[in-house]
Amino acid sequence: MKAFICPPLAVKSAVFAFILSVLAGCGGSGKTTVPVPENPVVTPTPAPEPTPTPVPTPEITVEHLHSLADMPIGVAVEAGGAINSILTSAPRQAIVEAHFDTVTPENIMKPFLLHPQQDTYDFGDADDLMDYTVAQGLAVHGHVLIWHAQQPDWINSFAGTQTEWQAMMDDHIVTIVEHFAQNYDNVVSWDVVNEAFLDGGGSQLRDSVWRLGVGDDYIARAFTSARSAAGANVDLYYNDYGMENNGSKLNSILAMVDDLQASAVPIDGIGFQMHVNMDYPDVGTFKQALAKVVSRGLKVKLTEMDVARSTLDTDRISQLTPEMQLALADRYKALVNAYLEAVPAVSRGGITVWGITDADSWLNRNTSRLEFGVLFNSDFTPKPALQGFADALIETP
Ligand code: XIL
Repeated sequence: MKAFICPPLAVKSAVFAFILSVLAGCGGSGKTTVPVPENPVVTPTPAPEPTPTPVPTPEITVEHLHSLADMPIGVAVEAGGAINSILTSAPRQAIVEAHFDTVTPENIMKPFLLHPQQDTYDFGDADDLMDYTVAQGLAVHGHVLIWHAQQPDWINSFAGTQTEWQAMMDDHIVTIVEHFAQNYDNVVSWDVVNEAFLDGGGSQLRDSVWRLGVGDDYIARAFTSARSAAGANVDLYYNDYGMENNGSKLNSILAMVDDLQASAVPIDGIGFQMHVNMDYPDVGTFKQALAKVVSRGLKVKLTEMDVARSTLDTDRISQLTPEMQLALADRYKALVNAYLEAVPAVSRGGITVWGITDADSWLNRNTSRLEFGVLFNSDFTPKPALQGFADALIETP
C-alpha cells in the first residue's frame, strides 16, 4: 500500500486539514500513518419524498338541507344596497331556495335602518326582502328589536324622562312588529332583546341606553310590547352570545328567565348566537348549557351559527385546505348532533347559519386572516360542512 504523505496546506477544506493535522501529527514529528480517504465528503442520498396520503373528498349528496329536518333551517341574508344582496344575486338565491326554509335579515331589519328618526320608519328595503321571501315560501326570523348596537343616534341621545323612554320603546317595538304582522304572515319569530348581559364572571345587565332610560324591567316590558303586536303564534326570543360555555353569563340569563316566567312575561325561547370556533365550546359543555334552557320549558334556537378557525391555527392561508374542509365538516356534524341530542323536538327553534358563503361572512370583515365558517365557499360551491350538517340531521332524529 502506498504510504500517505502529509498533504500540503491547500487541502480541500480547512476543517479537513485541521483533522489531518491532529490525527497525523503533520507539522510535528513528520510521521505519517493515518490513511485519508480520497473523497471523505459523504453526499447523503436524498430521502424519498413521502407519498402524501390523499385526503378523501367526501361526496356532497344533500340536495335540500332543510328537508332533512323537522325544524327551521335558516341562513342570514343581506338586502337593500348591500353588494351581496340576495335580491340581486342569482347564485345566492339558488342556494337559499335549495337548502333553507327560513331567513334572518342580517342587517336590513335593524333599528338604525327601520327607525332612522323618532317619527320616521323606513320599511322599503325590508319590504323588498319580505316580498322575495313570500314569493319563495320562506319563513323569516325578525332581527332585532332592542339592542345596544346598530341603533340610530337619536335613540342613543334620547333625553326623555323614564315615562317618555317607556312610551318611546313601546312605540318602537309595536310599530315595527305590527308592520310585519299586518302585511305578511311569514315572520314566525323575533329576537326581541339582544345581548343585554355583560361577559365575564358575575355577568350583569349591560348599562345600555335602554336599561338606563326605561329601567331594569326594560326586558320584561319589551317582551310584553312585542307580544301585544305579534299575536300568540310568533315565537319571542332573548338572543345572546357566549352562553354555550355554560358559564356565569348563562346563569345570569337563566335567572332572568326565572324572573320573567314568575311574572308571566311572554318569552318563548333563548337564542344562542353560536359564533363558535373549531375548539370552543366543547360538545359536552354545550349540551349541558342547552339542557338548562330546555329545563325551563323554553325553545332553543341557534340563531347565528358560524365556526371560526382555531385560535391556535395562525397560518396565513388563503384557501381552505382539504384537511380543514374535513375538520369543519366534522365540527358542524358534532355541534348539530349535540343540539339534536340535548334539545327535544318540541323545544327546537331550529338552526340558522350566519351568512351564505365565506365571501358574505361577517367573520371575514376587519380581520387580517381568512375565515371559513359557513357552509358554502366563496365561489358558491357547497362545502363538506354542508354534508356534515346533513349527516347529523339524518343520523340523529
Ligand atoms: C353583524 C353583521 O353580520 C354585520 O354585517 C354587521 O356589520 C354587524 O352585525 N350579533 C348579532 C348580529 O346579533 O346582528 C351581528 O351581525 C353579529 C353579532
